[in-house]
Amino acid sequence: MNILLLGSGGREHAFAWKMSQSSRCTKLFIAPGNAGTSLCGTNVELAINDFKGIKQFCIDKQIEMVIVGPEEPLVNGISDFFSKDAATKHIPVIGPSKAGARLEGSKAFAKAFMQRYNIPTAAYKEFNTENYEEGVAYLQSHNLPIVLKADGLAAGKGVIICQNHVEAIAEFELMIQQAKFGEAGKKVVVEDFLTGIELSVFILTDGKNYVLLPEAKDYKRAEEGDKGLNTGGMGAISPVPFADEVFMQKVTNQVINPTINGLKQEQIDYTGFIFFGLIKVGDEPFVIEYNCRMGDPETEVVLPRLKNDLVALFEATAAQRLHEVKLETDIRQAVTIVAVSGGYPGEYEKGLPIDGLDLVQEDDAFVFHSGTKQEEDKTVTNGGRVLAVTSFGNSLPKAVEKSKSILDIVQFDGMHFRSDIGYEFY
Ligand code: AMP
Ligand code: GLY
Repeated sequence: MNILLLGSGGREHAFAWKMSQSSRCTKLFIAPGNAGTSLCGTNVELAINDFKGIKQFCIDKQIEMVIVGPEEPLVNGISDFFSKDAATKHIPVIGPSKAGARLEGSKAFAKAFMQRYNIPTAAYKEFNTENYEEGVAYLQSHNLPIVLKADGLAAGKGVIICQNHVEAIAEFELMIQQAKFGEAGKKVVVEDFLTGIELSVFILTDGKNYVLLPEAKDYKRAEEGDKGLNTGGMGAISPVPFADEVFMQKVTNQVINPTINGLKQEQIDYTGFIFFGLIKVGDEPFVIEYNCRMGDPETEVVLPRLKNDLVALFEATAAQRLHEVKLETDIRQAVTIVAVSGGYPGEYEKGLPIDGLDLVQEDDAFVFHSGTKQEEDKTVTNGGRVLAVTSFGNSLPKAVEKSKSILDIVQFDGMHFRSDIGYEFY
């Protein structure tokens, strides 16, 4: 079948790489893609939110399935756009309806949903312009630290953890009165701070059934030892040592099953991935956030471990046949290390040539492109996160060593990375 994949990051390169291995994939197009995805299929100059352009492209190229990488088109309703149009309703979209994408697109919706279905999460209250004064009073007597979350999508910046009351009230004022995160961010969730260790759990669901993908842990802070600014993710590991059978059974019973049942009960169409951002407090899982897509860089360790044909898996999802599927995973340790531009997550230069890409010939290692672009015969940097180098190993240190050895070969000006990914499990 002909497939269109939307997105342009490391996650999408990993998707494209995996789908291109399938005998069921005839032509693969990626919009807009990056230099890495162009090695797996054909990049198309289409913006991810240009629904009309995407529709026309699908008709012209006889696309038979659309896979949506990032959250934005989902929150904007691309699945509904396709299913409601007579010209595209036969094309399955892997990605939830607009209603389903609210799990990520509205923090207030997600919290209320979790409360309705008794899904463990931090205690919270919701505020907006109408109960602003009540909110200030609530903050004044809240335990520290205080977590503030803007309701709508905020490019990963909408969560603020405040260490004192003055800062919390100032941020609250900026969010609600000054619309720091736009109109949708004028609604704010104030929640208790949870202390524990985080991990990411993923399912692929057809709305009735689901398969549990390998779990992962990402490393969001810019500097070693989990210090420095927050980033999109500096690396990830899978499997996660503490996610043992007992813990994952709790996740299934207390988080995943009630979420699927809640979606069914509310008749919310959901075909696609659910990413549960979890924190383990003591021995118990709590939900920090839902995402309506896969994680990045988590996908770069999850998909290499998946032995199933990904296109066949998507076909089973579209046909609501996921109960017939059994996932097979590589039991070895996978690690990805993200090589970022000098200055990231602050300002950085783009367009710098990347050397050594053609010299990497390792088995069990993959160089996924995040922010790259092909300029004639040169591959150049085109973002903050540039490459995600994934390796397998029989242990975490071995896998990390392998990715680091590749980053001795592949280089660009100003490149840096965290060499301590997975450090707490050594
Ligand atoms: P983001 O990825 O921007 O949504 O940031 C969310 C991050 O903030 C999470 O990965 C956690 O590290 C942290 N966080 C969010 N909510 C809480 C909470 N209730 N308690 C502790 N940390 C939290
Ligand atoms: N790595 C976290 C995310 O994709 O949101």
